[in-house]
Amino acid sequence: MQAALQLIHQRRSIRKFTDQPVAKEHIQAMLEAAMAAPSAHNRQHWHFIVVQERETLDRLSDVHRYAKMLKQATLCIAVCGDATHTFWQQDCAAATQNILLAATGLGLGSVWLGIYPNPEPVQAVRDLLQVPASHTPFCLIALGHPAEEKGPAQRFDPAKVHYEKW
Ligand SMILES: Cc1cc2nc3c(=O)[nH]c(=O)nc-3n(C[C@H](O)[C@H](O)[C@H](O)COP(=O)(O)O)c2cc1C
Repeated sequence: MQAALQLIHQRRSIRKFTDQPVAKEHIQAMLEAAMAAPSAHNRQHWHFIVVQERETLDRLSDVHRYAKMLKQATLCIAVCGDATHTFWQQDCAAATQNILLAATGLGLGSVWLGIYPNPEPVQAVRDLLQVPASHTPFCLIALGHPAEEKGPAQRFDPAKVHYEKW
């Protein structure tokens, strides 16, 4: 299968990690992949906060109840956007998906943790990571070397596809 398609199908949410740190070059490669994403009017109003300090990762694991795997993850990337920009969520989502795919290609495990638009986790991430008022935390991505394996999801459903009209 073509490399891009293989990566897309190989990517799964990984929530168990070893304690091996993620190499600097891999972090750089994921950030470059993030900023290669499309953005409305090519505005690129995104910012990425790279978190590796154990204490901060532990605190981030408490931002909501589905973020507990951050206690095991060795890396978290917080994706933030300029909420005054139309389409900022779509821009941040495209960058997030690029990070997930890049992580998969690098042999890393990753999972997208939704933050925006729930006000409490948005505020918790803002406070913990000192995100300025000009920007809004969109999501967190928990990352690390995987300690679980998952196969492709096989979710294709022809009933959800419509040709020409619904
Ligand atoms: C917007 C969004 C928010 C998500 N938030 C969480 C989350 O808070 N915690 C979590 O464990 N997974 C989260 N996920 C991952 C989904 O649960 C996961 O993508 C879905 O179950 C499909 O599984 P897969 O990623 O392995 O294909 C989120 C995914 C998206 C797109």
